Amino acid sequence: MPNITLTTLQGLKQLGEKIVMLTCYDATFAQAASAAGVEMLLVGDTLGMVLHGHDSTLPVEVDDVAYHTACVKRGNTGAFIVADLPFMSYATTEQALQSTGRLMKAGAHMVKLEGDLWLAESIRRLTENGVPVCAHLGLTPQSVNVLGGFKVQGRDPVRARQLVEAAITLEEAGAAMLLVECLPSPLAEQISQAVRIPVIGIGAGAGTDGQVLVLHDMLGLSLTGRTPKFVRNFLTGQDSIQSALQAYVAAVKGGAFPAVEHGYST
Ligand code: KIV
Repeated sequence: MPNITLTTLQGLKQLGEKIVMLTCYDATFAQAASAAGVEMLLVGDTLGMVLHGHDSTLPVEVDDVAYHTACVKRGNTGAFIVADLPFMSYATTEQALQSTGRLMKAGAHMVKLEGDLWLAESIRRLTENGVPVCAHLGLTPQSVNVLGGFKVQGRDPVRARQLVEAAITLEEAGAAMLLVECLPSPLAEQISQAVRIPVIGIGAGAGTDGQVLVLHDMLGLSLTGRTPKFVRNFLTGQDSIQSALQAYVAAVKGGAFPAVEHGYST
């Protein structure tokens, strides 16, 4: 795969070609996923749950994400690497700059942070400092204790309107990408159409510019035995992990995933 850059990803949105993203935490899977055509590897703070066995992403430290980003960088062959800023590592703009420096030096091409309007100033400063930023909207798992659980967001019309406005404001602040999690499918599509930057969805229907899944989920692995409705097990019917990764890429590119039953209604 040729090296994927931000320009490639913006071009895919303009062409209407779906972008394929997957979480990844180590060199072997980075090699396998990038060879299968996964365009973006997310070193997500889900590592706290799927690798470390915590029940939320809150215990994850910048050191953890930097370590796994460096591992992913070693195996990657051309994908665009996004690293998560973990809980409380970007509470102030100065802290965001410091934490981001660590992740970019470890090999990230972009950082992702969770929140909405309050992120605008940090996004502006990071962008001015040469860092592409992805803002994560909707279900923001680092705020699970405020949200009262891992629940679909934006069903209330007032909140839905706030989310569309936040997406536009964060694009204006310099965000180069948005990730929307667990939103009603029509709202996620509306957000994708309201901004020029690529919008990647998880549990947000087929109307976004791309899709992301947690690696362990799409391989049918679960510590808790609970699988969210937006997940499909791509190992089913395949004889290897490599074919499962290729099947995921083909399903997203071809529009077969997500299907209607993977999404949420308004
Ligand atoms: O941390 C992560 O893996 C994520 C995904 C749930 C999109 O943000």
